[in-house]
Amino acid sequence: MTNIGSYDERVKNFSWSIAEKELDYKDGNIINIGWYCSDRICEQGKGDKTALYHEGFTGEQRKYTFNDIRLAGNTIGNFLRKLGIENEDRVCLFMDKIPELYLSFLGVLKIGAIVQPLFSAFGDESLYVRLENAGTKAIITQRKHAGKVRKIIDRLPDLEHIIIVDQKKDKALKEKEVAFNLTEEEPVEKIDIYPTKADSPSVLHYTSGTTGQPKGVRHVHYSLISQYLTTKWVLDLKDDDIYWCTADPGWVTGTSYGIIGPWSLGVTQCVLDKGFSADSWYKFIDKYKVTMWYSAPTAIRSLMKAGEELVKKHDLSSLRQLASVGEPLNAEAVIWSEKVFGMPFLDTYWQTETGCMMICNYPGMKVKPGSMGKPFPGIEGVVLDPKSYEPITEPGQAGLIAFKPGWPSMMTTYWNNEEKYKEKFVNGWYLAGDRSTIDKEGYFWFIGRDDDVINTGGHLVSPFEVESALIEHEAVAESAVVSKPDEVNMEVVKAFITLKPGYEVNDDLELSVMNFIRKKLSPLAMPQEIEYVENLPKTRSGKIMRRILHAKEWGEEIGDTSTLEDD
Ligand code: WTA
Repeated sequence: MTNIGSYDERVKNFSWSIAEKELDYKDGNIINIGWYCSDRICEQGKGDKTALYHEGFTGEQRKYTFNDIRLAGNTIGNFLRKLGIENEDRVCLFMDKIPELYLSFLGVLKIGAIVQPLFSAFGDESLYVRLENAGTKAIITQRKHAGKVRKIIDRLPDLEHIIIVDQKKDKALKEKEVAFNLTEEEPVEKIDIYPTKADSPSVLHYTSGTTGQPKGVRHVHYSLISQYLTTKWVLDLKDDDIYWCTADPGWVTGTSYGIIGPWSLGVTQCVLDKGFSADSWYKFIDKYKVTMWYSAPTAIRSLMKAGEELVKKHDLSSLRQLASVGEPLNAEAVIWSEKVFGMPFLDTYWQTETGCMMICNYPGMKVKPGSMGKPFPGIEGVVLDPKSYEPITEPGQAGLIAFKPGWPSMMTTYWNNEEKYKEKFVNGWYLAGDRSTIDKEGYFWFIGRDDDVINTGGHLVSPFEVESALIEHEAVAESAVVSKPDEVNMEVVKAFITLKPGYEVNDDLELSVMNFIRKKLSPLAMPQEIEYVENLPKTRSGKIMRRILHAKEWGEEIGDTSTLEDD
């Protein structure tokens, strides 16, 4: 029996109070995600159950029970409080996928502070813009990443503490640095959980848009309600499952479903802090007897490339359910997974902004390979006519994906950017910024984004951010960044550059440009190709027409060029 039972029945009888009741939450109560993910599970008598199996990149293994993560959350929360961190202060997590990342997430939330997870792969400039925007007060990091923080600390007046989790206490430290090592600390049995309410801020995730700097998506503690229920009904997690979410918590999937979802349900999860390789992933599933696996299309396409023979070399019989998120999941990948794993990857569609899954394939519901599925019960999802912003009722007609606001994990604003937040709403609908069709059975079929944002392997890259990094190089006059097709990542970043007078293209210059931007961008945002050109196509008003460069890369019709400068 699946947790959701019948999708149609759930739609008919839906209310978010189903989750509220299961979580013993009533309107007006205190709701704290840190407490729900650890203390409450212990109170239910599951303190000795494994919460986390962790495997590091050198192969070392660690195991934490729910009581261990409860104590660690207390100890970290207590330490932060002693440093002077208060509720709603922003605390950044800047770590690899080490246990401290997951444990600190709980600790920060327990004291009512706002947790700001960032990819440890970010270069110092990417880190700077996000810390600066959030006015971050403390950053929890590892020795190997502290150097990047040191480089920018002088420009961050709000940043008071750099907490290093793998540093011995007696070590001489630099300005604002403080050592915090869980193994050296006395575990704190009890702390006062900050009485956060439904609308108290919880998590701040940064996401890229087309223009401007990355936006801080602000979530609240009430988001737990829909993260809990989607985990239960879509991922179908049950008490004896062993769950593996492959996402890094620098990305929303790694927090909503890599921490909050499984732990609020008291489910055991595993984390592998290692780069991708098909062989090591299969070994990991076999070793920990993973039953439920949530991953992303790029990884799945890489597994396809690695071939079926490799699958047969491992015992993957523990798996009972697979799901995917982040980019379009091609029909071939779904069919392939049915063939080699004996079950399809269930595609789920959602966004940093939505905080939880919005359009999904559900266990037990017919899968149409290539379709994202149907809206989660209680979610009103439509496609809007791009001119009138009225819902399209005709099946098969393309429109803008939109949702009626009001689900529990909807973002509450973009940090310090209420204006951009407001732009996301039209006619009472939240505009997701994607295009889709809906067939006559109500299944959504993704078409593409409605803006220039590049989705490379599930990671959203702002062309603006890459262009800004490029033009800071002394030789670069102008740049334009678009996507180009790629077999595994669907699309990758391609940059076009014009040079300032007096510079010419040669190996040294190309190397210098690459090295320059590597320091500024995350590896995920790095251009796969840079093309040096004499001129960029522009409108008469001087705006670079990325659309034309994009069309050329994708072999598409160039369309209307009437405003082109060179006409
Ligand atoms: C894209 C990810 C097609 C989409 C949790 C969306 C998808 C953006 C799918 C959000 C899917 C996500 N099929 N496209 N199943 N899932 N996307 O904020 O463009 O990193 O708007 O959150 O990824 O990406 P984000």
